[in-house]
Amino acid sequence: MVALVRTEGLGRAFGRLRAVQDLNLEVQEGDIYGFLGLNGAGKTTTIRMLLGLIRPTTGRVWLFGKEARRNFIDVMRHVGSLVELPAYYPHLTARQNLEIVRLATGGLPESLISEVLERVGLAGRMDDPVRMYSQGMRQRLGIAMALLPRPRLVILDEPTNGLDPQGVNHIRSLVIDMNRNHGVTFMISSHLLHEVEITCNRVGLLKEGRLIVQEAVERLLSQTSGWLHVGTDRREEAIAVLKGLDYVQAVEEGDALRVKADPARHADLNAALVTRGIRVSALTPQKMTLEDFFLSR
Ligand SMILES: Nc1ncnc2c1ncn2[C@@H]1O[C@H](COP(=O)(O)OP(=O)(O)OP(=O)(O)O)[C@@H](O)[C@H]1O
Ligand SMILES: [Mg+2]
Repeated sequence: MVALVRTEGLGRAFGRLRAVQDLNLEVQEGDIYGFLGLNGAGKTTTIRMLLGLIRPTTGRVWLFGKEARRNFIDVMRHVGSLVELPAYYPHLTARQNLEIVRLATGGLPESLISEVLERVGLAGRMDDPVRMYSQGMRQRLGIAMALLPRPRLVILDEPTNGLDPQGVNHIRSLVIDMNRNHGVTFMISSHLLHEVEITCNRVGLLKEGRLIVQEAVERLLSQTSGWLHVGTDRREEAIAVLKGLDYVQAVEEGDALRVKADPARHADLNAALVTRGIRVSALTPQKMTLEDFFLSR
């Protein structure tokens, strides 16, 4: 397996602020890599360093196995990206904006333009000037610009910013299709944890500038969450009993009754209810979600 993105000890300081520290990232060929972190965690700063938009204070970046600074033009030809706001000419149409990208890139067939506009869902508006576009439409145009040169690696910083739920869906299908059927590797920063969970195969979690987890999504979610759904017709009594058990960490009294406890004690928990005459109709372990995982860090 080739690492399309690899960093070694990558860091960036802004004055005294260490925005990113000692980052060892790895995005493998074929990945849809989700890059997660709270506001200010350092995602955009990292992406800017990967793309050579700002200089690292420490460490190095390899793209396609080559040291990125020394092979800049060579490697960047194969990278598509969208960082924060897309750069376009507002008085030109989407089609004309893409034509400029096409001419600058060289050697791409003209038919690719309508194809990519179709893919991002802008076909119906491609001859309107971009200044007339909504925020979500501009974002779609930015994604189209990143995809047009058919890059092997696409790096997107919060691509679904400003998109409606249908737009988020649409971009998700597009990413999955480009990945499965066209072999494109993606690195995507996002705050939408559920989106990442159903789209990405690997995630990196950044906290205060440091990478605290880098792991396959499947492996993260195979860990048990410790949450149990408890089904009983004597809810109030059950809650009182559960709250009195020292190994119960939390009781959630929503529509469904949920408790968090060490999985090794789940059988004891059942016994505790039953011995007090509370019949238990269900005791279902809850699957770990990326949100549970994220919040626990
Ligand atoms: N040009 C800059 N000058 C000074 N500080 C900066 C600069 N760019 C980023 N920072 C600081 O670096 C830290 C990381 O910012 P960054 O934009 O990388 O976070 P982020 O993870 O992308 O956050 P968000 O989810 O809000 O986009 C923040 O504390 C930010 O204030
Ligand atoms: Mg950011």
